[in-house]
Amino acid sequence: MNIPNSPPWSMRGGPQDVFLRSDPNWPYPVIVAGNGIWLQDEEGNRYLDVSSGPVASNLGHAHPGVTAAMHAQVDRLTFASSRVARTTENIAFAERLTALAGPGFERAFLVSGGSEAIDAAIKFARVHAVRTGQEARQCLISLLPSYHGGTLGCVAVSGDLAQAAMFEGMITLSEKLRAPLSYRPVNGRSPEEDEAAVLSDLDALISRIGPERLLALVLEPVGGLAMLAPPLTITEAETGDLLLRLDQTLVHFEQLAMESLL
Ligand SMILES: Cc1ncc(COP(=O)(O)O)c(C=O)c1O
Repeated sequence: MNIPNSPPWSMRGGPQDVFLRSDPNWPYPVIVAGNGIWLQDEEGNRYLDVSSGPVASNLGHAHPGVTAAMHAQVDRLTFASSRVARTTENIAFAERLTALAGPGFERAFLVSGGSEAIDAAIKFARVHAVRTGQEARQCLISLLPSYHGGTLGCVAVSGDLAQAAMFEGMITLSEKLRAPLSYRPVNGRSPEEDEAAVLSDLDALISRIGPERLLALVLEPVGGLAMLAPPLTITEAETGDLLLRLDQTLVHFEQLAMESLL
C-alpha cells in the first residue's frame, strides 16, 4: 500500500477537518451567502460557482421556488417514519417519479442522497437474489475509473484505486472493468472500437467470475467525479440475467436543471 502515514501538521486544518485536506495550500474561503450562480465569502468576495459545487446546487443558490417549498414543508411537517407511516408529499413524489420512469419501475425507494441510493440498490439486488434462490450471486462489477459515493459500500464499488488500497480487506471490492476512454483513446482506437474492446473484456470477466456468481453491473450513464469516462452503451438485453444498476445521481441533477430551465 502506498499511503502516507505521518502528514505534516499544516495539512491538518481546523476543527471541521477530520480527514486530511487534499491541498493544504488552498485558501478555503468561508462562504456566508449564495444567490443564483454566485457565492460570497465573509470578506465580501464573490465567486462564480461554475460547477454548482460538486454538481449539487445546479438550480442555483437560494432558488426562490426551492426555498419557498422548503419553508412551506418545514412549517407543515418535518418527518414521519416510513417504517410506520406514509406522507402525502412522499406519496405524490413517488407517484410522479414512477410515472416518469415508465413501465417496469412502478415503485420507488426514497433515500436522501446518492451514496445511500447506491447502498440501497446493492442491498436490493442481493435481497432479490437470495429471495429467488440465487444465493451465489454476490459479485459486483463496476468501471475503473468511476465514482459512486462516500459510504464503505460505495467505496467497494467505486473505481478509485487509492481508496481501494486504503480499505481493502475491510470490504469486498467489486471487480473492476476498464472504462472506455473516448477522450483519450487507447492504442489509437476510435471511441466505438474502444467501447467494443471493453465489452469484450466484460465478456471475459464474466466468464472468469462465473455468471452464476454475478449480482450486478454498476454504471454511471454520465461520468462525474471520475471525470471524462464516457458512458458504456449497454442495455438490459445485453447483460442477460446480470442485473444492470444505473447510478443516475448526476443524470437526475442534470435533468432537474434542464426541467427548471424549460
Ligand atoms: C455518480 C454518483 N453516484 C453517487 C454519488 C454520491 O452522491 P452523494 O454525494 O449524494 O452521496 C455521486 C456524487 O457525486 C455521483 O457523482
